Amino acid sequence: MATLFEETEIKGLKIKNRMVRSATWEGMCEPDGRPTAKLVRCNGELAAGGVGLIISGFAFVRPEGKQLPGKMGIHTDDFADDFKALTGAVHDAGGKIAIQLVHAGGQTDTRNAGRKPLAPSAVKVDQFPELPQEMTADDIRAIVGAFGEGARRARDWGFDAVQLHGAHGYLINQFLSPLTNRRSDGYGGSIETRSRFALDVYGAVRSAVGADFPVMIKLNAADNLSGGLEVDDAVVAAQQLAEAGIDAIEVSAGTPASGDKSPARQKIDQPEKEGYNLEPARRLKAAVGCPVMVVGGFRSYGVAEKTVNENGLDYVALSRPLIREPNLPGRWLQGDRSPAKCISCNGCFKPGLTKGGIYCVVEKKEQEKQSKG
Ligand SMILES: Cc1cc2nc3c(=O)[nH]c(=O)nc-3n(C[C@H](O)[C@H](O)[C@H](O)COP(=O)(O)O)c2cc1C
Ligand code: SF4
Repeated sequence: MATLFEETEIKGLKIKNRMVRSATWEGMCEPDGRPTAKLVRCNGELAAGGVGLIISGFAFVRPEGKQLPGKMGIHTDDFADDFKALTGAVHDAGGKIAIQLVHAGGQTDTRNAGRKPLAPSAVKVDQFPELPQEMTADDIRAIVGAFGEGARRARDWGFDAVQLHGAHGYLINQFLSPLTNRRSDGYGGSIETRSRFALDVYGAVRSAVGADFPVMIKLNAADNLSGGLEVDDAVVAAQQLAEAGIDAIEVSAGTPASGDKSPARQKIDQPEKEGYNLEPARRLKAAVGCPVMVVGGFRSYGVAEKTVNENGLDYVALSRPLIREPNLPGRWLQGDRSPAKCISCNGCFKPGLTKGGIYCVVEKKEQEKQSKG
């Protein structure tokens, strides 16, 4: 029976336990996307905390694919030394790191993208201010190529794997979703053709990194939006990607417009509310042969352990609990199995936007109170 603390492999990459740091934008890069020493320290701490595989915050593959301030960029060769420092810090601390590659598509604005946002179709995305411009065949070719280039840089700079961001309403998800993809060429229509962009990106990345390098994808099992991607179609897309050769799939759900069903749900205060993407993840797992990760609201050791040993998922991925406690996997391994201290309030986003990097605001308040009292 699978256990949380056993070693596994994804395409030859040894991972020391079944806990993964789900991609988390840290807001710690220079305005042009260059990683900072603070980001290097943050990743070193995560590796030292014992998580099996870190998936970096999303990195834009072309400047117009940028969404948030402080976001990492892998669009240029200029950042080689900075990225090598980052992967080196993780490896020195005994960790492994994949980079998440993204293009924001219509989920950005001119201020961040430096131009009018590009998207599969000219459909305004809720929560984002501008009507995007429909991508031409040349735009598609250029962006697919940029994913390949980003992946090649990542491999050359010491990353152990790449993950394509196919979830949370970003460009790959926009092509998969009938809500945002109204195209009448070979990239729109049924799910079999809406997935063509994802498959083209996978193909470009695979050609760039070679047959032996792990290539993974984070997929929405559902957009949790009326008219958006539903689980039956997500299963078909997952099967197509698995047949093409993807090495692992991480299952998430929702977009910034999905309200209380967004990717990072709040008030996860009982074990019953944990693992809120588990059921759709089990459906995808049953349909594909590759390892499947599940993310969303895991907070207690018991629920995480059951997810791998009874429910058959290969990895449990965590984001917010590791912002509050980068050493959570190590703490559980050493025998302190009390739940994660994160209260799922989402307060950590704000300092990423305004203070040069995310941190747990609840912990900071507690520390300030203690030092006063
Ligand atoms: C501050 C913050 C930044 C995030 N950045 C990303 C990201 O870059 N890429 C991504 O796929 N998901 C991102 N997410 C979503 C998480 O990876 C995860 O899917 C979600 O928070 C649910 O998991 P959790 O309950 O363990 O936090 C982010 C979440 C938070 C809180
Ligand atoms: S601010 Fe702290 S407690 Fe709130 S979600 Fe973020 S990490 Fe968790």
